Amino acid sequence: MDFQFSEIHEMIRETARKFAKERVAPGTIERDEREEFPKAIVKELAELGFMGMMVPEEWGGAGLDALSYALAVEEISKVDASVGVIMSVNNSLVCFGLNKEGSQLQKERFLRDLASGRKLGAFALSEPEAGSDASNQRTTAVRDGDSYILNGVKNWITNGSTADIVLVMAATDKAKGAKGISTFILEKGTPGFTVGKKERKLGIRSSDTVSLSLTDCRIPAANRVGEEGGGFKFAMKTLEGGRIGIAAQALGIAQACLDASTRYAKERKAFDHPIAELQAIQFKIADMATSVEAARMLVYRAAFLKDSGSPFGPEAAMAKLFASKIAVQAALEAIQIHGGYGYVREYLVERYLRDAKITEIYEGTSEIQKIVIARSLLK
Ligand code: CAA
Repeated sequence: MDFQFSEIHEMIRETARKFAKERVAPGTIERDEREEFPKAIVKELAELGFMGMMVPEEWGGAGLDALSYALAVEEISKVDASVGVIMSVNNSLVCFGLNKEGSQLQKERFLRDLASGRKLGAFALSEPEAGSDASNQRTTAVRDGDSYILNGVKNWITNGSTADIVLVMAATDKAKGAKGISTFILEKGTPGFTVGKKERKLGIRSSDTVSLSLTDCRIPAANRVGEEGGGFKFAMKTLEGGRIGIAAQALGIAQACLDASTRYAKERKAFDHPIAELQAIQFKIADMATSVEAARMLVYRAAFLKDSGSPFGPEAAMAKLFASKIAVQAALEAIQIHGGYGYVREYLVERYLRDAKITEIYEGTSEIQKIVIARSLLK
């Protein structure tokens, strides 16, 4: 067992930390207020190789591992969780799956641009009636010669209005349930493909969340990813890796809460002493630090298992379940430590709470993570 990072991991963490401090931190509050997508930051992330981290260099990626990716998402999310999720979706839900299951032609036409960050991707599984119950797909894809015709509505799509390319799950044979779902590459500009209303969210407000509408969208059959009927398994396998990204995002938020709390506790005086001298505050900080470290171990271990080629689905679910829970708790405690200052917008901690909450919901709610974990133990 080795708890040392390699030189590359250290370098990735430092690069991400420096970038987050210098390039992401300025304007976070304003972007959150204005619900403004951080376009320029995403472009710079691409230049750093952070938009296709796990894709081999031959396909435009950085050729790094899942641990490097988790470290980068953690560091970026520590400063701005909205940027963290934009990066996470492109890396693990779009690029990783395309690299694993895409044809040579699809990699040539789409993956290279996505992994290098010249284009942005989105992942469209959820629907108005298919959230946790993801196999209940109403979107249909009907084969017509060398094409498929797609119809349906997708909900809660991160990067949805900014994405150039969307991976869409749709039913090719409804009678077959989960085994009748396929995955398709849909390009922006396809006739019949429209972006619906932008969601006004509690947190991660500068990330882009929309519904997508597909009306008789004709796409080449060559845009189907993998076998017909293999789309649900594709989505599930892709989400296993995605959950490491969201767990890393939650970890970043929790670490930010701890950092803000220790800083504030040393500065703020009450009863003539810094509040850091009060045991009530010390206990909160000690609990917070312990849970952050425990979450970190789970996140890195899930990434390590993925990198070593071992099964990692339940471990990724555990990492997400735990890291998201402690991120919400850490944010609540950080607000409590900050008192009234924690409740107002000019201090960052109220945003940490708003941002943390979504990590218990997207890429599988905490309840879904428990199902994944329990099934792995009880099969
Ligand atoms: N890997 C490979 N195959 C898998 C799998 C996995 N991880 N999980 C399930 N499967 C296979 C099963 O083996 C089964 O195939 P067989 O019959 O051949 O064995 C098939 O898929 C159907 O599986 P289940 O019977 O388990 O399916 P289910 O309907 O009971 O659903 C579920 C299982 C775990 C609840 C699943 O629906 C799920 O994960 N739901 C949550 C969906 C989710 O995470 N959505 C997130 C949307 S994306 C997002 O949030 C992005 C964003 O904005 C940031």
